[in-house]
Amino acid sequence: MFLSQLYLKDYRNYKQEHLKFNPNLNLIIGSNAQGKTNILESIYLLGTGGSHRSNIDSELIKWDSKSFYVKGELIKREQSYKLELSLNNKEKLVKVNTNRLKRISDLVGYLNVVIFSPEDLNLVKGSPSLRRKFIDLEISQISSYYKHQLSKYKEVLKHRNNLLKDIREKKGSKEVLEILNTQLTDLGAKIIVKRIDSLNKLSILAKLIQRRITNGVENLELKYDSKLDIDNQSSYEDIKQELIRLLKKKEERDIYRGVTTVGPHRDDISLIVNDIDIRKYGSQGQQRTTALALKLSELEFMKAEIGEYPILLLDDVFSELDYNRRSHLLDVVQDKIQTFITSTDLKGLGKINSNYNLFKIKNGSVMKEER
Ligand SMILES: Nc1ncnc2c1ncn2[C@@H]1O[C@H](COP(=O)(O)OP(=O)(O)OP(=O)(O)O)[C@@H](O)[C@H]1O
Ligand SMILES: [Mg+2]
Repeated sequence: MFLSQLYLKDYRNYKQEHLKFNPNLNLIIGSNAQGKTNILESIYLLGTGGSHRSNIDSELIKWDSKSFYVKGELIKREQSYKLELSLNNKEKLVKVNTNRLKRISDLVGYLNVVIFSPEDLNLVKGSPSLRRKFIDLEISQISSYYKHQLSKYKEVLKHRNNLLKDIREKKGSKEVLEILNTQLTDLGAKIIVKRIDSLNKLSILAKLIQRRITNGVENLELKYDSKLDIDNQSSYEDIKQELIRLLKKKEERDIYRGVTTVGPHRDDISLIVNDIDIRKYGSQGQQRTTALALKLSELEFMKAEIGEYPILLLDDVFSELDYNRRSHLLDVVQDKIQTFITSTDLKGLGKINSNYNLFKIKNGSVMKEER
């Protein structure tokens, strides 16, 4: 799949811009603060319905405007899709081929996208929520079933947390809590079973990639990290029973605190290199390599699951990688994955063999476009 065109109106520092992309490689070059990341962000937005760096949609509107509009043309299995996303008067609207989608999240799954930016180091050393987001978005992009279960889980969890507070204040009923527990453990077990299954697959891919990047020195393992007593073979039923047991065990404490302290919303992924947990003990280089391996395994995982590579957005990471990692990355993407690379100058990118489009960005405008 590839994105053939992008149109931006009043998006971040872009007044109006229309870009035509190369199916292979697109280089977005410009000084700092000119609008390179903004372009990648808008592409990411078309893939996921949200920005990778802000949860506040109104920040995406150009400062002197009241609305923004982003449109892209996606070519997937020789079919063309028109994807549109706009924000007007706080109303966010998404359309595919001019049909309005019911939910923003329904956009996920058309344009599959993987982004890799310097902040992704946090994927390794940052909080568990970042790793949960990583695995959830990854699975959501290939499974709308998972996406729906996940959003239902979040709804039920919210109800349950409110109810726990009500019970604490002697306003809520324990019968209703039982009903919510049944729903929560069913949805929770479905989510965990899918996460474990995906992680088992990702782990194999990430291990191979990490070995290749480090010339066989580093052995990476990904494991589902949970308070539940489960392993990477546990079934839906095992997980559900274990969730029921732990929810019961923690019930009084959860009522006292007014939050649910067990379930997939509290789980994590452990990243082990040569038997060491590198979330805590990894060197900067190991963490960077692992973040890269995770991202690259995400590409292969999606290809295996949906039969096509997603598109890849590389924001400012290229010049930060050493020769080994850079050439490995280029090998992986060369001629099979549509890739967007931002950089402050062309030289930092090293030698590029495939054909590409070049966009020179200055102050929210494309100054020069070469093919
Ligand atoms: N809502 C907005 N309206 C107008 N301008 C904005 C808005 N949000 C951000 N900007 C501006 O957009 C400019 C470009 O941002 P962007 O992050 O794309 O830069 P960049 O080219 O990636 O820079 P760097 O090389 O430093 O990463 C910034 O100067 C920022 O102040
Ligand atoms: Mg940037």
